[in-house]
Amino acid sequence: MRVFVTGGAGYVGSHCVKDLCKHGHRVVVYDDLSRGHRSAVHPDAQLIEGNLGDQAALAAALSSNEPDAAMHFAAFAYVGESVQEPLAYYRNNVANSIALLEALRQAGVGRFVFSSSCAIYGIPDQVPIPETAPPGPINPYGRSKLTVEWMLEDSAAAWGLGSCSLRYFNASGAARDATIGEDHDPETHLIPIVLQAVLGRRSKVTIFGTDYDTPDGSCIRDYIHVEDLAAAHRLAVEAIEPGRATAFNVGTGTGYSVREIVEAARRVTGRSIPVEEGARRPGDPPVLIAQAGLIQSRLGWRAQWMNIDDVISSAWRWHESHPNGYVDGSRRI
Ligand code: UFG
Repeated sequence: MRVFVTGGAGYVGSHCVKDLCKHGHRVVVYDDLSRGHRSAVHPDAQLIEGNLGDQAALAAALSSNEPDAAMHFAAFAYVGESVQEPLAYYRNNVANSIALLEALRQAGVGRFVFSSSCAIYGIPDQVPIPETAPPGPINPYGRSKLTVEWMLEDSAAAWGLGSCSLRYFNASGAARDATIGEDHDPETHLIPIVLQAVLGRRSKVTIFGTDYDTPDGSCIRDYIHVEDLAAAHRLAVEAIEPGRATAFNVGTGTGYSVREIVEAARRVTGRSIPVEEGARRPGDPPVLIAQAGLIQSRLGWRAQWMNIDDVISSAWRWHESHPNGYVDGSRRI
């Protein structure tokens, strides 16, 4: 297939591009490099530098490449920033998704895979969380993702778009060959923060909240390896049916606490990690774990990276070999 990938220079997008290329698909990446990295884009993919808000550039990119399908990763993804700058999130994540869907409709592209998030569930009543749990996002980031899912449902009914929304739990790890990995600036995610502390790039790790109603008092998350996410996207795009909007959780079904992650990183790196106990981070649900049976039964997808030490090892190989992340001069925010 020819696949048009927005945000293919970002963390999850770049791993999906690599996986698509490896499986013989032809990939065009459309990314403005505002948060992504040029050197994260797989050498077999074509990179077009452009913004989704630039209607003419987007239409030209689509008409010259005639893709069969699109995968949409381009979005802002900091929960805290979304609370401070909600309109920037609605513009970038919602308005630009409208622009993309209009351009795809114009270009006759009827298959769409959307990078959604477990943030659409907010603070769930039921854990593990099934896809049927009522959505209830608690921040503009989660609301922006849910709004796009609704647009996809309505587009399926109105003009036959076939789509699949993948609701990721905590994306983690790096490519097994350590050529690409996670590099956010600023970094807010737990595993890279812990590994930066190992490397001496930060003095310590703060555990945000130790008084949750969990076995060790810290928050529990479902850490899904980025290569497993990539496989889920590939299977999803290959299985899309016209006129049907589906949504799947993508997680392992197993949770680890913040303290367990720090402990696993100690085991993997063999180094000590200075830790301090801090206050809760506002808006953090105590436990997020996926019920991931639906994607298994519908797409035959199953997480391969089930051992948290292996997930952290893959991230460690990337961070150790790229202590300053990508050094390709991409603009930083
Ligand atoms: N944490 C710490 N210290 C840190 C960083 C994180 O204790 O320095 C904790 C957080 O409080 C949380 C856990 O580690 O309990 C994981 O935090 P991350 O920031 O790595 O990930 P989140 O679970 O907060 O966020 C993820 C995705 C978001 C998505 C959200 C849904 O990254 O995109 O899940 O809640 F919106």
